Amino acid sequence: MSGYERPLRLAMVGGGKDAFIGAVHRHAAALDGRYQLVAGALSSTPERSRASGEALGLAPERSYGSWQDLLAGEKAREDGAEVISIVTPNHLHFPVALAAVQAGFHVICDKPLVHTLAQAQELEQAVQQSGTVFAVTYNYSGYPLIRQAREMVRGGVLGEVRKVIAEYHQGWLATGSEGKQADWRTDPSRSGPAGALGDIGTHAEQLVSFVTGLELSAVAAELTHFVPGRALDDDASMLLRFAGGAKGLLTVSQIEIGRENDLRLSVFGSRGSLSWCQENPNVLIYDQLAAPRQLLTRGGPGLGAAAQQATRLPAGHPEAFIEAFANIYTGVADDIAARQRGEQLEALYPTVQDGVQGVKFMERVLESAADDGRWTAF
Ligand SMILES: NC(=O)c1ccc[n+]([C@@H]2O[C@H](COP(=O)([O-])OP(=O)(O)OC[C@H]3O[C@@H](n4cnc5c(N)ncnc54)[C@H](O)[C@@H]3O)[C@@H](O)[C@H]2O)c1
Repeated sequence: MSGYERPLRLAMVGGGKDAFIGAVHRHAAALDGRYQLVAGALSSTPERSRASGEALGLAPERSYGSWQDLLAGEKAREDGAEVISIVTPNHLHFPVALAAVQAGFHVICDKPLVHTLAQAQELEQAVQQSGTVFAVTYNYSGYPLIRQAREMVRGGVLGEVRKVIAEYHQGWLATGSEGKQADWRTDPSRSGPAGALGDIGTHAEQLVSFVTGLELSAVAAELTHFVPGRALDDDASMLLRFAGGAKGLLTVSQIEIGRENDLRLSVFGSRGSLSWCQENPNVLIYDQLAAPRQLLTRGGPGLGAAAQQATRLPAGHPEAFIEAFANIYTGVADDIAARQRGEQLEALYPTVQDGVQGVKFMERVLESAADDGRWTAF
């Protein structure tokens, strides 16, 4: 983590009382002392927003009733927020992110970026024009051993990549009566055109791309909703073709009873393979032809610079979800600091382009599935 002068002033849209990921973003932002939460429009009504702001100790005049008021109010202050985190349901990502970028704020937005590829491209253009930093919290790419896997695969340690398998298994949407967080996720007007595909499939796709650097060339997909009456997919299986001939399999589900947050990635090359699992994230399995299996451990021997930089504790003291999330936040802070010094940094955090790629992936999969699994060019 490079040197910095003072914490960045952070404002949050969404993430009120009882929300899930907003609190994780706040922990992640706080972990390395790189941000200070100064303002929020935290909920869907002015009353709930202000109550949530008060609970977090925000100054009353900076606990706004709406995101529009927040952007205007913080823009007008000399000590206004510099970075806006967007942690609302998906349908608000586009209007809030676009307005924030156009107003000159740096943005950290949760996934999936927006509902449509047209929106994603408009947002990407706005980011290019404003020259601001824009990150998408594909947080699984923040795990040290995922960064290790990336370094090994891209460094050719596995030889030529032949096959990639990404799996994301959950069971919490198996019944259709799961409550508030399920309600918006299964409502196309708020979730967007994809269900499990957008919610967790985009994470899996980004992980494949982050680790391997392979470019998707075509996809053949089947989407299903097992819960009767559900408007969006709760299960999806995809075959992938990559430029250069590698093949992939990506499967995601939210109706697999008993599965919690079981995200797995396996990469098979001509000389070896790597396997990683989010529920045991401090171990990376490395297999080579005709050699004993190696278990690479976070903080342990034999790791490269990328993994070491993303690690805070010695080996054996588990690090996990919040620390990985914090690596995204800290990467963004490093990039903002570098730009302020007039320097360029290789961004290891997912950018707006990764967000666009995720939305494109969603659209191509939907197209393929709507045509009975036809191979659809990327
Ligand atoms: N990166 C990850 O691992 C991860 C995990 C979970 C969720 N997410 C993403 O984060 C986002 C939020 O998901 P969640 O599970 O926390 O949802 P949630 O329902 O728990 O929380 C959403 C919050 O947004 C607030 N909100 C709604 N409308 C608002 C408005 N107009 N203005 C301000 N706030 C408003 C709600 O009051 C609530 O506080 C989604 O885009 C989701 O896909 C990402």
